[in-house]
Amino acid sequence: MATTESDDDSSNEWSQLAQTYQDLFVPRLQPLYDTMAHYAVKKIQSNDTKGEYQLLDYGTGPGEPILTILQQLTTNHLYNVKLQATDSSRGMLSLAEERLRKLKNPYLTVNFSITHDSSNTNDYDIITTSLVLPYASNQGQMLRDIFQQLKPNGLLISSHWPHPEQVPFLAIIKRIIKFMATGERIDKSDLESNVSFCCWPEEITRSIFVTEGYTIEQWITVDLPMPFPDIRTLLSLARPFKWFRDSSLYLEAEEETKRILREDFHLELQSNESFELPSKAVVVVASK
Ligand SMILES: C[S@@+](CC[C@H](N)C(=O)[O-])C[C@H]1O[C@@H](n2cnc3c(N)ncnc32)[C@H](O)[C@@H]1O
Repeated sequence: MATTESDDDSSNEWSQLAQTYQDLFVPRLQPLYDTMAHYAVKKIQSNDTKGEYQLLDYGTGPGEPILTILQQLTTNHLYNVKLQATDSSRGMLSLAEERLRKLKNPYLTVNFSITHDSSNTNDYDIITTSLVLPYASNQGQMLRDIFQQLKPNGLLISSHWPHPEQVPFLAIIKRIIKFMATGERIDKSDLESNVSFCCWPEEITRSIFVTEGYTIEQWITVDLPMPFPDIRTLLSLARPFKWFRDSSLYLEAEEETKRILREDFHLELQSNESFELPSKAVVVVASK
């Protein structure tokens, strides 16, 4: 898939976020990975190709989508599949490789690689991509590249955040980052038109998939409970920002978060500071 890579990964913001992303999201997104893996396994169980399946996880991050697939395949004794995963961030990939080593699965492995330019066509029976497409600078192009790499009747299993209103934890983090940078408060009514939330409302998703030639087979909404032990854990996604490491600025961010929780979500913290922000993700299963 077309991606240009520099040799120096230190400027890749995903690499700076890799450890925090793994700690914060991998446990909280498990229902999403389980759902994606379920549809990948179902396709392989159908044995429609009568041969070895080729599966690619694109933008694998710390590897949870592909490692969940590997584990579900093992549980179902399905080994006729070659698993590959790519990401443009070396920091993310090294976490994924480490986690694969720890699994010590005797039956299946994953070939991890940095995303490279590729003009291959009809390579994969299944491509999974979890929470990647809406972050792409050219989303249509990424969907076209994936389409080209899928074999005829191949399956794309892709997950997205739907509307900012349905992903309160993400909306709060984005609002705090903006507030700390500019002092401005994003009003709830501004959320919809704000592309920086990296959400794909349903009509956008359907139209972009259909425009690129996919047939949408399944549309699944996954509930994510999203518990947080305290505000600092929620805000840790903003770790690269200077204010996160400056105690007085950090307190300002925490106060603003408490205000949003109280005024917009009618949420008071429990005495142990914990709270929950139930969220939703969407899994689209589409065929070529
Ligand atoms: C929100 S994370 C999702 C990680 C993982 N798929 C998951 O669901 O946990 C987005 C990932 O997409 C990767 N990414 C973003 N743009 C990419 C691109 N053009 N090519 C490959 N990977 C990309 C990032 O490095 C990051 O690891």
